[in-house]
Amino acid sequence: MLAFKIGGKSAYPPLAKVEPVPAPSSPRQNTALAAKGDLLFEGYGCSACHGARGAAAGGKVPNLNRMPPADLAMLKQVVQQGALSANGMLQFKGMPDSDAEALFAYVINEAWAAHDRSTRKPKQEGSKP
Ligand code: HEC
Repeated sequence: MLAFKIGGKSAYPPLAKVEPVPAPSSPRQNTALAAKGDLLFEGYGCSACHGARGAAAGGKVPNLNRMPPADLAMLKQVVQQGALSANGMLQFKGMPDSDAEALFAYVINEAWAAHDRSTRKPKQEGSKP
C-alpha cells in the first residue's frame, strides 16, 4: 500500500519487475488474417476465459501471450479436437480450418506484441510518447 503526503519528498518505491514475455516460437503472422482472428476470438468466446488479447492473468486459464501454441497443428488439436478438454479447455467441434488459422494468426501476433512491449527499452527523458 502507498500513502501520500502533500509536499512529501519520499521517492516512489520501485515497481515490481515484470518478467519479459518470451518470444513465440512461431514467426509473426499475416496481419489481415490476425485481424479476422481478433473478431473470432471474441465471437467464439475465447476471450471470456483467456481474457482480452488472450492475456488472462491468474487462475487455471493460460495466458496465451506467454504460452502461445507452438504451431497451427497444436492449436487445432487443442481447439478443434479437444486435446485439453479434461482440463477445462472447451472443444470447438466443427470449427472450420480457416477460423482455426485466423485464430492462430491472432494469438501468435498478440504474443509477439506482448513480447515487444515487455522488452522495449524505457523511453528517454523528454522523448515524445
Ligand atoms: C471455458 C473456458 C475456455 C474457453 C471458452 C476457451 N479456452 Fe482455451 N483453455 C482453457 C483452459 C482452462 C486451458 C488450459 C488447459 C490445460 O491446462 O491443459 C486452455 C488452453 C488453451 C490453449 C493451449 C495453451 C497452451 O499452450 O497450453 C490454447 C491454444 C487455447 N486454449 C486457445 C483457445 C481458443 C482459440 C479459444 C476460442 C476458440 C479458447 N481457447 C476458448 C479455457 C478456455
